Amino acid sequence: FSCGVIIVAAGRGERAGQSGEGPKQYRTIGGRPVIAHTLDTFATWAGTGPIVVVIHPEDTELFAAALKRVPTSAAPTVVHGGATRQLSVLAGLEAIAAAGAKYVMIHDAVRPFADHALLDRCRQTLLGGADAVLPAIAVADTLKRAGANGVVQETVARSNLYAAQTPQCFTLEAILSAHRAANADAKADFTDDASIAEWAGIPVVLVEGMVDNIKLTLQRDISMADERLKGSEI
Ligand code: C5P
Repeated sequence: FSCGVIIVAAGRGERAGQSGEGPKQYRTIGGRPVIAHTLDTFATWAGTGPIVVVIHPEDTELFAAALKRVPTSAAPTVVHGGATRQLSVLAGLEAIAAAGAKYVMIHDAVRPFADHALLDRCRQTLLGGADAVLPAIAVADTLKRAGANGVVQETVARSNLYAAQTPQCFTLEAILSAHRAANADAKADFTDDASIAEWAGIPVVLVEGMVDNIKLTLQRDISMADERLKGSEI
C-alpha cells in the first residue's frame, strides 16, 4: 500500500486575523509551525508515498523555514495553489499523477492533529475497495436553521448528520477525473473533495474521524492548539 499525500496550504487564513507570522498554517504551536506538525504525521506513516505540498507563491520562504522543522521528511514536491481550495487541490492532484500513485489522501495543512490510527482506518477502507473515504464525526449539538434576522426557523434533525474532516482519501483515478470534470464544467464552489466525488456519482464511505482533528480557523483555535502542545516542543 502506497498512498500519495496532498497537503493544501495555499490559503490566506483571513479568518484568523493578521499576524507577523503570516497565514495560520505557518503560525507557531508547540514551538513549530502548524504545517511542520502536519507534515511530520504523514512523513512518519508507513503508508505514505509521494508527498505534494500546495503553497501560495508568496509563502516560499515561510514554507522553506517550516520544512526545516520537520526532522523526518524527505523534501516533498512543492506546487503553487490557486484562488480556491478546489483549484489548489487540482494542482496537487496533477502533481501526484505525475509522480504516480494508486491512492491519494488530501489533507488540510491546518489540521495538525490527525493521527496514524486515523490514517490506518482510511487505509483499511480504501483496501476494502472504496473509491472515496471520508473521516467524519457524528454531530453532537442540536442544530438550528435561522433566518437572516437571527430568529430560529426550525430544528434540523441531527440523526445521520456528520461533520466532515480530512484527510479525505480516494483512488487517484476516480478523484482526478472528478476534479478535472468539475473544473471543465466551471463548477467552482466545492469546499471539500468528498463533495466533488458526490457530484461525480462516486460513493463516499464514512470512517470514524477524531474529535481532536480540528481545522485551526480562528486565532482562538491556534492558541488552544499551542496550549495543548505545551511540554512536547522539539
Ligand atoms: O479556507 P479553508 O479553511 O477551507 O482552508 C482549508 C485548507 O485549504 C487550508 O489548509 C488552506 O491553506 C487550504 N487552501 C488552499 N488554497 C486556497 C484556499 C485554501 O490550499 N485557495
